[in-house]
Amino acid sequence: MTFVIHPALCCPIDASPLMMDGLSLICENGHRFDVARQGYVNLLGPKDKRSKDPGDSKDMVSARAAFLNADFYQPLADACLDITLGYCSTVADGRITLMDAGCGDGYYLHHIQENLPNDLDNRTSIVGFDISKWAVLQCARRCDGTWFVGSNRHIPMAEGSVDLLFDMFGFPDYSSFRRILAPRGRLVRVTPGDRHLIQLREIIYPNIKPRSDRKLYPETFKVVSKQQITYEMSVGTEDLKNLLLMTPHMFRSTPERRQQALSHDQLTLTVDIIFEELEAATID
Ligand SMILES: C[S@@+](CC[C@H](N)C(=O)[O-])C[C@H]1O[C@@H](n2cnc3c(N)ncnc32)[C@H](O)[C@@H]1O
Repeated sequence: MTFVIHPALCCPIDASPLMMDGLSLICENGHRFDVARQGYVNLLGPKDKRSKDPGDSKDMVSARAAFLNADFYQPLADACLDITLGYCSTVADGRITLMDAGCGDGYYLHHIQENLPNDLDNRTSIVGFDISKWAVLQCARRCDGTWFVGSNRHIPMAEGSVDLLFDMFGFPDYSSFRRILAPRGRLVRVTPGDRHLIQLREIIYPNIKPRSDRKLYPETFKVVSKQQITYEMSVGTEDLKNLLLMTPHMFRSTPERRQQALSHDQLTLTVDIIFEELEAATID
């Protein structure tokens, strides 16, 4: 698909604006980043590349794409769309930049883009990035957009340039998020609730620990709305394999326990997800 340049994209080396130059992006100091023929660009700064192949592996990304494409999480994608429409209804005119940080295979942004009414679609920029090049490759296969390999730690976007920022099951860096959020921008954090995939967790773990990641946000953010989405889905063996592979459960459970889960032809699993919308807080 086609790479779309966003005016707020910055050089990951010196933070100066990036411009299109043929099939590359270039900054005023001559740092050049080639756009891959698939339609994405690698803007991962040297300090953020902490391993040879950072982020989710090729297999994890393929498993996530297969699982999400079966629409088990469509109610979550619909919730993202509703939040986007709600936000856009508060912005009368002008361009809106929608970003997914750690966007995985781009399922959620694509769902939003496909379902935006024409008038909004024309004034909305879709930006997604992930530290995994395999994930970004999948995004670029899905649709046109500003897709790049990058890290939450140093997001190569100008200060105050993002209106709606999704962090879905990701690894947030709040100071980075705060820097790129527009003054009236919103951060949407999506995290698992206590009952998420409980039936699977009861099979693969001897003891279920309460989730320890109940977040305390830094004082630079305040929660302005919260909703919980809960429903059940029926998952067959192949989808269950993908679900295991795309989550940390793959590494945390033993092969015997995983096999026990996969011996079921069909499992009914609870989806329990929390959506929180946050605004930058004014600190006195
Ligand atoms: C649990 S997956 C969620 C993917 C996607 N948000 C979704 O919900 O389908 C976490 C993603 O974060 C990416 N990731 C890990 N560390 C990151 C970082 N420092 N910056 C950006 N992405 C990162 C991984 O490569 C992976 O795609």
